Amino acid sequence: MTQPELPVASPLDRRRGRSALSPKRPSEDKAGLADVFPYYAGFAYDWARALLGSQDISDTAVVLDPWNGSGTTTLAAQHEGFRAVGIDRNPVANIVARLRVSAYQTDPELVDASSIRPAEVATSDDPLCAWFTRGSVSRIREWAEHLSHLPPSQSGLPYVALFRAIRSLTTSFEGSNPTWVKRAKSSDELVSVSAKDFDSLLMQEQEFITSRIVTSSEMPNNPVQLATALSSALPVPNGSVDAVLTSPPYLTRIDYAVAYTRELAVLGHDIAKDRTLRAALMGTTLIRKDADSHLQIGKTAGTLIQDVTSHSSKASSGYYRKQVLQYLRDLTAGLDEVTRVTKSEGIFHLVVQDSYYKDVPVRLADICIEECTLRGWNLIDRDPYVVKRTLTSVNTAARNYKKSEVSETVISLRKK
Ligand SMILES: C[S@@+](CC[C@H](N)C(=O)[O-])C[C@H]1O[C@@H](n2cnc3c(N)ncnc32)[C@H](O)[C@@H]1O
Repeated sequence: MTQPELPVASPLDRRRGRSALSPKRPSEDKAGLADVFPYYAGFAYDWARALLGSQDISDTAVVLDPWNGSGTTTLAAQHEGFRAVGIDRNPVANIVARLRVSAYQTDPELVDASSIRPAEVATSDDPLCAWFTRGSVSRIREWAEHLSHLPPSQSGLPYVALFRAIRSLTTSFEGSNPTWVKRAKSSDELVSVSAKDFDSLLMQEQEFITSRIVTSSEMPNNPVQLATALSSALPVPNGSVDAVLTSPPYLTRIDYAVAYTRELAVLGHDIAKDRTLRAALMGTTLIRKDADSHLQIGKTAGTLIQDVTSHSSKASSGYYRKQVLQYLRDLTAGLDEVTRVTKSEGIFHLVVQDSYYKDVPVRLADICIEECTLRGWNLIDRDPYVVKRTLTSVNTAARNYKKSEVSETVISLRKK
């Protein structure tokens, strides 16, 4: 299990900094365990490490990611010797981030199938019944129950193995849009798996993850704090953060709760019945009650709202206007919080992607720069990268409207 070489950027690569690397996560990103559970719209670990490693910040610096996802920032910050704080409202993301930061510190402990006791589990209302027969759900639920009682430092690996097993059994419910997962329309479509087969799949998945883990006593073992919380209410003290590296959800109608609906079901969340989590996630396609209330916003975002509202297509002045307003409300509330928690002279790297609403360009990079400037940040740099395959290109309706290549931008700012 312990191997001498760590899959990280060399110091030379690090000094070459961001010009040598792209923030876009390569499809086969093995560094930092990114491929063990590919998380949608994650950025590249080597790039994040190179960027943090090239910063002029003290060894005791605190690095924050308020939209931490699978924890690329928290892992890169840990490996660069900083203290890291990662916040994400999706509990699935935090489990993956926990596995990635704990994987280097201790030899992983596998959970043996013999320790999973048969339990009296009521399966009639179980959210996993959307894909599995009730007989199959009992064993899956017994595993999930067992893992829920393990300390977080030990549960990351078996949980991610469980997520991988559930995914591999339900690939038939995935469509061309990687973030939209179907549910069984009739009992004929439900997946059936015996307890014995499920146990051996779980053991195989745990062994696969273990084979990918590199433990090293030389890796910095700095504290990483991960929390399931909202970016609009960060559980972080005022002025305590030295650097922020993050990528918020984009205005591309990605519903993170739907994308992880099967993993959320493993954790006991039924997003079809309880809409709280889905509605709380930025970019959600659900509209909250306050969506249309007054929003104080800069000129660029204001123009976007006007262009969407006056678009001739159906629902533009109704549903889509509210969705854009709601997105901008969440984005700016997150920026307010980043501003509150960052020290003066602190740095902020933000990766965002421009997109289109029909034929209306969504200049998210310009919007973020303007909103940050209004909150007391100075722009240091903006670095655009062309994105070849975006969600716009998998959505045929949007593709008809697409006018030119969209780009991802790394925005770097310093707090006044
Ligand atoms: C683009 S992803 C971040 C990916 C991350 N950079 C990585 O490498 O994995 C955006 C994340 O924001 C999270 N998110 C969405 N709405 C949120 C909210 N209101 N508060 C906190 N996190 C939220 C999503 O769950 C998702 O994990």
